[in-house]
Amino acid sequence: MLPGDGVGPEVIVQAQRVVDALGLPLEWTELPWGSAYWHEHGRMMPEDALDVLRAHDACLMGAVGDPSVPDHVSLWGIILPIRQKLDLWANLRPARLLDGIPCPLAGRGAADVDMLFVRENTEGEYAGVGGRAHEGLASEVGIETSVFTRAGVERVVRYAFELAESRRGVVTSATKSNASRFAYVLWDDVAEEVAASFPAVRYERVLVDALAARMVRDPGSLDVVVASNLFGDILTDIAAAIQGGMGTAASANLAPGSPTPGLFEPVHGSAPDIAGRGIANPAGAIWSASLLLEHLGEAAAAQAVLKALESVCRNGPRTRDVGGSASTREVGDAVVEAVSLSAGR
Ligand code: NAI
Ligand code: MG
Repeated sequence: MLPGDGVGPEVIVQAQRVVDALGLPLEWTELPWGSAYWHEHGRMMPEDALDVLRAHDACLMGAVGDPSVPDHVSLWGIILPIRQKLDLWANLRPARLLDGIPCPLAGRGAADVDMLFVRENTEGEYAGVGGRAHEGLASEVGIETSVFTRAGVERVVRYAFELAESRRGVVTSATKSNASRFAYVLWDDVAEEVAASFPAVRYERVLVDALAARMVRDPGSLDVVVASNLFGDILTDIAAAIQGGMGTAASANLAPGSPTPGLFEPVHGSAPDIAGRGIANPAGAIWSASLLLEHLGEAAAAQAVLKALESVCRNGPRTRDVGGSASTREVGDAVVEAVSLSAGR
């Protein structure tokens, strides 16, 4: 468990309590990495961090980022190198509106919002290729090169199709192959080829700007959405808003088909604007813990956590971002109680 910064530790401790309430034979290692570590050691995580992670089965992470550290330093100091160097190429983000959570879209309810985003997680616009020259001069230039490989696109699109087979059978590919003439045209070509081997899944490609509008106008028309790193990042904040707010959204960073440990984290960041007040919504973190349990092969436990979270969303207590007035801890208590009841403890 990597609690991280800001609201990270506040929500992660609740997720940990919920998992512990199941009574599984499971051990935690707490990793004190993040912005405080950076101030002390000049780096966000130790040199052997990836080996430490590889020695575990999974990682539950809060978020990193603090106003005292530049955001590109904190992100490139922890989460991006972990995703890239462990080759956690699939970022799964379920966007489902749970019953009882208010939807910001007029007239929409839980039956209308059930999307699954599959975000490419290692390349695209976040490949880290680029540079800055002539710093401080009027001629200063910043170049960020997006990197798309056939292999990278193929594996993530294929995974999206496999997931769609056990859902409603629709894959929507987010693209921008009108303005981008190379990378997203390659993306489309590969997606088309993969689609041909899944005749039972309906495939559509939609320009990302139109897709953003459609998510708001008609979320029920979307099932599995596969997107590049940048588009997936942006679209899933919209998705989080539609499912009730940043605090409600969960994610899994995975290397499907390999023994690499997965990394599970709420979609939200460290939320410095509300950190330290005990009001952050722990739902996204608890949902992420459910995804973690699934990854560990504990399907029944994963379902029990999700069911407990669903019952608390339906009956309360809820934090203020989703229309309630409860604290992070009170919501955590309620989920712990619900999960303990279902586990007969
Ligand atoms: P953010 O997700 O932290 O906050 C955006 C808005 O959502 C804020 O109004 C915040 O109060 C609200 N919010 C977030 N989590 C919430 C929760 N659990 N309950 C209720 N409301 C919640 O995004 P922001 O402000 O852009 O970034 C803050 C910091 O987090 C930055 O340093 C950024 O780099 C970092 N960050 C880190 C991520 C990671 O480690 N994976 C992901 C995203 C941002
Ligand atoms: Mg994001």
